[in-house]
Amino acid sequence: MTQTGSQPTSARSILRGDLLDFTADPGFASPDQAQGVRWRPDHLVCIEGGKIEAVVPATAGVPFGWESVAVDDQRGRLILPGFIDTHVHCPQLDVIASFGTELLDWLNTYTFPAERRYADPEVSRVGAQRFLRALWAHGTTSAVVFPTVHKVSAEALFEVGHAHNMRLITGKVLMDRHAPDGLRDDVAGAERDCIDLIDRWHGVGRQSFAVTVRFAPTSTPEQLAMAGRLCQTYAGTYMQTHVAENRDEVAWVAKLFPDARSYLDVYDQDGLLGPRAVLAHGIWLDETDRAVIKERGAQISHCPSSNLFLGSGLFNWAQAQQEGLNVSLSSDVGGGTSLSMLRNMGDAYKIQALQGTKLTAWKALHTATTGAAQALGLGDEMGLIEPGHMADLTVWDWARGAVAEHRDAVCRHTGGQLHERVFVWMTLGDERNLVQTLVGGQKVFQSGTPSDPIPNSTFKHLPA
Ligand code: GUN
Ligand code: ZN
Repeated sequence: MTQTGSQPTSARSILRGDLLDFTADPGFASPDQAQGVRWRPDHLVCIEGGKIEAVVPATAGVPFGWESVAVDDQRGRLILPGFIDTHVHCPQLDVIASFGTELLDWLNTYTFPAERRYADPEVSRVGAQRFLRALWAHGTTSAVVFPTVHKVSAEALFEVGHAHNMRLITGKVLMDRHAPDGLRDDVAGAERDCIDLIDRWHGVGRQSFAVTVRFAPTSTPEQLAMAGRLCQTYAGTYMQTHVAENRDEVAWVAKLFPDARSYLDVYDQDGLLGPRAVLAHGIWLDETDRAVIKERGAQISHCPSSNLFLGSGLFNWAQAQQEGLNVSLSSDVGGGTSLSMLRNMGDAYKIQALQGTKLTAWKALHTATTGAAQALGLGDEMGLIEPGHMADLTVWDWARGAVAEHRDAVCRHTGGQLHERVFVWMTLGDERNLVQTLVGGQKVFQSGTPSDPIPNSTFKHLPA
């Protein structure tokens, strides 16, 4: 493999601020009973070669041997592990916030036409840059990403991800039916493209390949069988798809696959479900389906803003937790309306509230950091602020704007529990609170710094 990119540097840096991360899943316990919350005010994070080397209280002083390293003083600000968005579509920044449809109409009306443009390598290249920069500007440092059916779209993401040493999980989308011209592949060609991408990118730096079945309706049984063979043959690759998002979609799958017990079973029959399977949505699953997901060790990626925006339904997170399923959190842009994991946490809170459960900030933040890392089998690499972990970190202001500043001040003056302040931050905060994002110790976002322009001129209307 000969791709070049910015390799981890041996540069050293020190970041100072208030650290929040999670050493265990707080579950749905009340804020004061939750386990695993690690709050370390005013600490130094010492970073070398992209990794965290040491974490010490500032009062202990700079560790021996680090005296000459400059300290980036972010005192009074929150430092968290970067967010991990486990389901998001790169090309759908072109259709985010599209009016008036549910899933199947939304795909045909907005999404498929937009994705056709990514056949053009230049559109894919610029789109990948725009998309990854946007993730960083929202505090997301790692993601499981859908590109399009075009091999170049996956290639472009791998290239930019690798150049910035970002943990990125993606793969060319598989779809050989029920999609317009310019968006369909075929079994043999798709298999060749996937194997080529695996050979060239899987395990290169922090790049991982995912067998990417769009959803059951857009793949023939032959293509699903091929996808299953890829998962079995190339151990260590991921699998990502959509499942049981919308009731019309579920009914369509039942018609297309009359022999399957359920929508999920379509995937299970072909060996697509394993510990590295990321299943977006999972709203309309039954008890047997949930037991199968648990047994296979797969995860459900909960997509709160998307489920509300497309009117798909209310995911029962508390039930999934009680049954022992892995659940991660995602933006699902462009069905979702924001790349901000904070905004998606706010939506997740409301979805659970409508079902009589209260989602704590501890549970939401754990899920979007170390919980997601562990569910992806990457718990030793990211999701914690700990020596040996990659320095994928975000620095946040507690409050932005008059209302949030007032509410934060009330928390401080009334001396409430830490959860109150963090919950207010999570609920009122968004990307405007973000000060800095580090990926592998490198600064990829700094607030107030104009980012390099990304040309929009690659946007071209295609004939319908
Ligand atoms: N199901 C199949 N494709 C998609 C997609 O692009 N977005 C969402 N939300 N659901 C899907
Ligand atoms: Zn999706």
